[in-house]
Amino acid sequence: MDSLSLTRSDLHRQKAYIDGAWVEGSTRIAVLNPATHEQIGTIPNLGALETETAVAAAERAQVAWKCELAKERGRILRRWSQLMLDNAGDLAAILTQEQGKPLSEAKGEVAYAASFLEWFAEEARRIDGEILAPHQADKRLYVHKVPVGVVAAITPWNFPLAMITRKAGPALAAGCTMVLKPSELTPYSALALAVLAEEAGVPNGVFNVVTGDAAPIGDVLTDDTRVRKFTFTGSTAVGKMLAARCMDTVKRVSLELGGNAPFIIFDDADLDKAVEGALIAKFRNTGQTCVCANRFYVQSGIYEKFAAALAGKVKAMRFGPGIPIGEADCGPLIDTKAVEKVGAHVSDCVARGGQLLVGGRALEGAPGFFEPTVISEVSANSMLCREETFGPVAGLVRFEDEDEAIALANCSRAGLASYFFTRDYGRVHRVSEALDYGMVGVNTGIISTEVAPFGGVKESGLGREGSRHGIEDYLEIKMVCAAI
Ligand code: SIN
Repeated sequence: MDSLSLTRSDLHRQKAYIDGAWVEGSTRIAVLNPATHEQIGTIPNLGALETETAVAAAERAQVAWKCELAKERGRILRRWSQLMLDNAGDLAAILTQEQGKPLSEAKGEVAYAASFLEWFAEEARRIDGEILAPHQADKRLYVHKVPVGVVAAITPWNFPLAMITRKAGPALAAGCTMVLKPSELTPYSALALAVLAEEAGVPNGVFNVVTGDAAPIGDVLTDDTRVRKFTFTGSTAVGKMLAARCMDTVKRVSLELGGNAPFIIFDDADLDKAVEGALIAKFRNTGQTCVCANRFYVQSGIYEKFAAALAGKVKAMRFGPGIPIGEADCGPLIDTKAVEKVGAHVSDCVARGGQLLVGGRALEGAPGFFEPTVISEVSANSMLCREETFGPVAGLVRFEDEDEAIALANCSRAGLASYFFTRDYGRVHRVSEALDYGMVGVNTGIISTEVAPFGGVKESGLGREGSRHGIEDYLEIKMVCAAI
């Protein structure tokens, strides 16, 4: 990390952050740069005891934090957001070093992450209750919105900043406190956030970062009775398991899980816009987002033109380490397991008759890299259509009519994001209503913003993040029935 020569070297912390103190562990975990597989530092491998300490601190801190005026909580969050923007260069460098995405994308993520803190700073003052018309003449009925309490958050490696602020923003705005366990693959972004939280005036114990292996920390976060809400972004399999554990203590649960996004191109689509949308929806973060296009359904009348245009663009993509800036469109995958999975999806497509138009191989001598790939004539039954690939592979399936496209798109247990391109006004409405997904992009490949509700249906999750709805998951409804 020293090689990055940060403007503020104090942003690179190798200690956990509990109750306002920087904490060592008796053992440590190595953190690798996914572009080189070289070690960039270590973090404390904390366990149950330290996690319980963090939960206790969060419980103590909540007493005062929830009583703070909403305006003051908002002021602190806004300052935190501004500090992120003021230190965007350093935060982006830390992020790229541990996660791999190109530096320009990392800078985009810093701004995206800061936007959640700013948004929820504003929402803090709009947590309003209700006065109901009473059911009896001598009664008065009030509905209050109160913070749920201590929140436990487990966040992934693909957006090491934004997936934290999308949870911490609403939690802190609502008057909750948080114990965060960031991915052990990308802990430094979370720890840099903690430095800035402290600087912004977030009181001790309100935001805690516990680093280490998932199991012992996760056990406390799911089982401890003092934790009243659990929020997780990650794989569907792990999310189901964690949510089941949370039921023992009947915690509130929010889950943002895997997707398997269909991307439909109808014959009447604007070809250039569809290709542009496909590139961003597929190759953002080297294909490692939950909303990445996973399956392309292309109508037969535009199929050849779309395939050739997409393949041409993908062939020109540069892939390599995320730093220096401007030299790569695609970075490495997070680890060798990810490379193997992507390779397996490509081999399966080819074995079922798919034709490689571009790419198709892991890079020899550079263990984290997989070539940006386009495959045509992909079978609708291929692994690539059934499972999330989480890599830079676009597989194109041919279809004939609207009903077939909708049926293919909805044939999944996931229901996060979906996309389609058409110039037919009626179809815009028909298809967006028919797609069984929490989010639909029409004639665009990028849908994420702090302003709109992000989340899925079916096995893609529970709850919504961002937007005015995002704060509701951190609030309880409390009714007061007063006899007068
Ligand atoms: C995710 O991959 O989970 C988040 C992607 C986004 O916010 O756009």
